[in-house]
Amino acid sequence: MKVLDISELQFGFAKGYFEQLVSRKPFLLDVIKSLKTPTLVIDLDRIKQRFIELQSIFPEVRIYYAVKANDNQEILAALANIGSGYEVASSWELEKVLRLGVDRSKIISSNPIKPLDFIDYAYKSGIKAFSIDSYKEVDKLKKVAPRSRVYVRLIVPNEGSDWPLTNKFGVGVEEAVSLLDYAKSQGLIPYGITFHVGSQCNNLRNWFIGIKTAWEVWERAIYSGMKLTMLNLGGGIPVDYTYKSLDIEDIAEYIQALLRKYFLIKPMEIQIEPGRGLAGDAGILVSSVIGKTTKHIADDDSHWLYLDTGVFNGLAEVLGGIKYPMYTLKEGDLLPHTIAGVSCDSMDIIAKNVYLPDLDVGDIVFIMAAGAYTTVYAANFNGFGIPDIVFI
Ligand SMILES: Cc1ncc(COP(=O)(O)O)c(C=O)c1O
Repeated sequence: MKVLDISELQFGFAKGYFEQLVSRKPFLLDVIKSLKTPTLVIDLDRIKQRFIELQSIFPEVRIYYAVKANDNQEILAALANIGSGYEVASSWELEKVLRLGVDRSKIISSNPIKPLDFIDYAYKSGIKAFSIDSYKEVDKLKKVAPRSRVYVRLIVPNEGSDWPLTNKFGVGVEEAVSLLDYAKSQGLIPYGITFHVGSQCNNLRNWFIGIKTAWEVWERAIYSGMKLTMLNLGGGIPVDYTYKSLDIEDIAEYIQALLRKYFLIKPMEIQIEPGRGLAGDAGILVSSVIGKTTKHIADDDSHWLYLDTGVFNGLAEVLGGIKYPMYTLKEGDLLPHTIAGVSCDSMDIIAKNVYLPDLDVGDIVFIMAAGAYTTVYAANFNGFGIPDIVFI
C-alpha cells in the first residue's frame, strides 16, 4: 500500500473539496474563466441544503441565521424562502433583514452588549427579545425597550473551537440568576438562556457544559420565582477547513440527547444561531498569483507566492488561526509555499507550509471554505477593495 505524504494529503484534501463543488455545479469551471479576481463564488444551494439538513435532523429547533457570517442580501433572501429566522447585531443587519419583509418574530438579537440606538430601532421595529449579561444592559433595555423579554448569556468553555468567543461575554450561574431577577424587578420579562461554544467548535464537551449549566440556571430561576421558556444554543457548528470537522448530524444527536437528559419534561422553545455552519463551506475565494519569489532563510529555500487577496480584504480570520484549504488546477510536483497577501503590510501572510505545484504570475488559486466571515470582515486597506460575490 502506498503511504501518502503530508503534501499529497494536504493537496488531495483541497482537491476533494474543490471537486465536490464541481460535482454539484459542473459549470463552475466555465464561470471561473470569466471572473476577475479576487471574487467570492458562492453556491447558494449549498447554504440552503445545510439549512434543510439541520432543520430535518433537529425539527424541534428554530434556526436563526447569524447574519454577521455573510450579510449578502441574496443569501438572506434564499434563507427567508425556506423559513429561516435571523440573528442580528446592528441596525445595518436589521435593516437588511427587514427589507425581506419577514415576520418580526423571526428576528432575534443575541449580542449581550448593544448600542442604545440599535436597541431603540429594533424595539420600534417589533423585536421584543434581547440578550443580556450585565446590569447596565438591563437598564438600557428598561429605558428604550420596556417590557421586553430577556435571555442571559452564560460563559462556557470554548476549548477545541478554532475561533473562541469566550472571555468577552457571559456570566456564571449565580450572576445569571441575579441578572434575570434584576431584569424582572425592572419590568422586563425573564425569558431564557443563551451560550456560545465558540465558532468552528469541534469539541462536543462545550455543548455538554453549556446545556448542563443552562439547566442549573433554569432550576435556580424556578427556585427564585421565574419561569424561563427558551434555550438558545448559539452558533458553533463547524465546517471542513483543512481537516474534516464534526458532522452536523452527530452534533444534533448529541445535543438532543443532552436536552432529553436535562430538559426532558419542560415545554420550551429551542433556538440555534448558526453562521459559519450554514455559509462557511459554500464559498470559494478565487484569487490570482500576482508575485513570486524564493527567500533563502538559513539553509531553507522558501517559496513565496503573493495573491491578489489577503488578510485585509477577505481573509482576516487567518490572524486568529483559521487555515483555508488551497487548490489550483495546474499540475506538477508539490512544493511547500508561504502564501502572502496583496497589501504592503508584513502581517498580511495568509498561510505557511501550503503544498502547491510550482505556480506563476497569473495562475489561479482557489481558497476553499471562504463563505463565512470573509467579505464581511474585508476593508479597503491599500485600496485593494472588497471581493465581489458571484452566485452559482
Ligand atoms: C451571538 C452570536 N450568535 C451566533 C454567532 C454565529 O456563530 P457561528 O458562526 O459559529 O455559527 C455568533 C458569532 O460570532 C455570535 O456572536
